[in-house]
Amino acid sequence: MHQGQGTPAPTAAAAASPSSRARRIARRTRDGCATTLANTLCSLLLGLLLIAAVIVFVIWLGLRPHRPRFNIASCSVAGGLDPDSSPAGASLAFNVTDRNPNRHIGIYYDAMHSSVHFYDALVASGPAFAAGWYQPNRTTTSITGLLDVLGPATTDASWPSFSAAVRAGRVPLRLQLTTAIRFRVANAFHSGRQRMHVSCDLLVGADGELLPDSVGAPCDRYI
Ligand SMILES: *[C@@H]1O[C@H](CO)[C@@H](O)[C@H](O)[C@H]1NC(C)=O
Ligand SMILES: *[C@@H]1O[C@H](CO)[C@@H](O)[C@H](O)[C@H]1NC(C)=O
Repeated sequence: MHQGQGTPAPTAAAAASPSSRARRIARRTRDGCATTLANTLCSLLLGLLLIAAVIVFVIWLGLRPHRPRFNIASCSVAGGLDPDSSPAGASLAFNVTDRNPNRHIGIYYDAMHSSVHFYDALVASGPAFAAGWYQPNRTTTSITGLLDVLGPATTDASWPSFSAAVRAGRVPLRLQLTTAIRFRVANAFHSGRQRMHVSCDLLVGADGELLPDSVGAPCDRYI
């Protein structure tokens, strides 16, 4: 080593000298080693990342939140239905069971609004739960509501088909619940709030009670 630090760049003549050739070979060897080391580290890191991804995926499969399940338990229009007069003014009571199927995840619900339709005609609407509530893991609760029946009136376009359905003893109604939910994992993590619509198709008879084939029927959920 006859050239100290800070000396100018070697000239062409100096580059050809035996000592500078040795230095070049040494540098090339060192660069080669560094490349090999970097490649090994890279492979190792990629391998670790892959393993971590698989572990996260497996944990997610076990912990991933399932949406609650809803079934219609009962629905009745007090006093029954009459094919010759509007049900407006009667009260409609419903009971929907709400199952949280998650083993470790609780669900927060916002206030819930309910409405009942006969095809496109509004029959009743109102709050089912005026305030939010929390449903612990693996529990079933009942969502009940008592609504004032608003229609259809005998002058409405939907009246002839409503009257015919009452006469036939099979009135198709659609009960809809609207709320927003958040999942709670391990007392610590909350998911974002997401809107949820629950839609239950049901049949009531002329006596105003749920027909047996509708009891326990599952409701659809849209998030
Ligand atoms: C709602 O229905 C469920 C299941 O049939 C029943 O256990 C519960 O007592 C009912 N709730 C009310 C308030 O009627
Ligand atoms: C609910 O979750 C907690 C915490 O993960 C757990 O200890 C408990 O056993 C769960 N309850 C049920 C009924 O699965």
